[in-house]
Amino acid sequence: MKRIAVLTSGGDAPGMNAAIRSVVREGLEHGMEVLGVRHGFAGLMAGEMTFLSARDVGGIIQKGGTILGSARSPLFRTEEGRRQALVELAKMGVEALVVIGGNGSQTGAYALSQMGFPTVGIASTIDNDLMGSDITIGVDTALNTALEAVDRLKDTASSHHRAFVVEVMGRNSGYLALMTGIAGGAEVVLIPEVDTDPNQVAAELRSSYARGKPHAIVVVAEGAKLNAQALLNHFTTYHDQLGFELRVTILGHVQRGGGPLAFDRLLASRLGAGAVAMLDRGRTGVLVGMIKDEVTATPLEEVADKRKPVNLELFRLANILAR
Ligand code: F6P
Repeated sequence: MKRIAVLTSGGDAPGMNAAIRSVVREGLEHGMEVLGVRHGFAGLMAGEMTFLSARDVGGIIQKGGTILGSARSPLFRTEEGRRQALVELAKMGVEALVVIGGNGSQTGAYALSQMGFPTVGIASTIDNDLMGSDITIGVDTALNTALEAVDRLKDTASSHHRAFVVEVMGRNSGYLALMTGIAGGAEVVLIPEVDTDPNQVAAELRSSYARGKPHAIVVVAEGAKLNAQALLNHFTTYHDQLGFELRVTILGHVQRGGGPLAFDRLLASRLGAGAVAMLDRGRTGVLVGMIKDEVTATPLEEVADKRKPVNLELFRLANILAR
């Protein structure tokens, strides 16, 4: 394989740049030319590609976001959009594509590979909900960002004897909320995968108050049925049920930004090089991920349109440790 292209797609994640750098430098090492595609699949359909040298990806390993830009492209979900992408790849003589991204992006990668184009995915999303990888690029940094916020909120919550609802990202996945809850010592964790009654939350807050806790933290995933807004609506009416006064903080995209921490830089470096090694061996149509500290290849068919479930044993642990 002599000429490959790389793109980042969907929600950006800290460590994507480290993965781009690794794909480029490992590719050059294998005697390949590497093109960077701007703005994900949208840019691919528009033929936005340029050659990347080792120097072009210098000084980016510590940078958040993605130097290539990213997008969510409705057009690429259509057959017409994907055919257009194949035309642009052919025009540039690209023989294989590396797709760095999460669920939607790997579904796109699978579609291209089904159309006969050699494609390899790299597991990257702060949601950590991809099949085929124990952990994905970006989630560790995002988790640390959420955790720092929780630690800070605890300080002010204790000073005022308040309860804080902290909403973290995760439209469909509770991984980030669950891990933030455990590592941040939250009293309550609410995730999309588990339905919780607001009266249960009220009872938990009341009981924390009665046990003399100086504050209470509720970590909620944005996709939980009872998200921050729903909780606020409920407790505005029943605030006397809680003991604590209530405040809400929605962390939002703050969690996607910032330079990647060591774990994500190393993971991205290993997965980027792993993807090139797969291409070199002619292994395509796979997601490159990390399972039990090994770089692995899982058929995209087992990844596309699927979601790795959260470990509900950890949900139980979060509740127990909240006592
Ligand atoms: O998939 C990553 C993610 O950050 C989710 O946690 C979140 O629900 C979603 O992207 C937000 O998407 P957007 O940036 O398009 O608003």
